[in-house]
Amino acid sequence: MTRILLVCLGNICRSPAAEGVLRTKAMTRGVSVAVDSAGTGGWHAGDPPDERMQAAAARRRYDLSALSARQVVPQDFNRFDLIFAMDRSNLANLEAMAPVGGMAERRLFLGDEEVPDPYYGGEAGFEHVLDLIEAAADRLLDELVTKATGGRATD
Ligand code: 4NP
Repeated sequence: MTRILLVCLGNICRSPAAEGVLRTKAMTRGVSVAVDSAGTGGWHAGDPPDERMQAAAARRRYDLSALSARQVVPQDFNRFDLIFAMDRSNLANLEAMAPVGGMAERRLFLGDEEVPDPYYGGEAGFEHVLDLIEAAADRLLDELVTKATGGRATD
């Protein structure tokens, strides 16, 4: 089971959406993952995902309503195998927060591009974020399946 943490700034827009999308897609494909999300900042700790993000996700049948924001903690760097940052600023903050001996691999969720912060924009920004996240989740699950099967066909 691969343990994956998705990280953004507030943990109310991008990373909870990524958590919901990745968990749903993994379940549909039968890929064994444990998924959580957190923010590098703690201002929204305890809050549900932003209503605009919840609404955009619900239109695509992802239910984010049970999620609650939390801040990244030092233990995350050993509780997870992979920590994905939504943008370069999140990644830099994560590196600054990583304890000595923190083993989790840290990467950008989109490889070398960023999931833009939709917080101060309009509805289109949330749709764009979901498009990026859905594609990244598919690619990540492909990668995990390939790793698990040593590249052999699975069906
Ligand atoms: P997120 O979006 O990092 O995708 O959750 C944001 C949420 C809140 C704030 C910034 C970004 N904020 O400044 O409160």
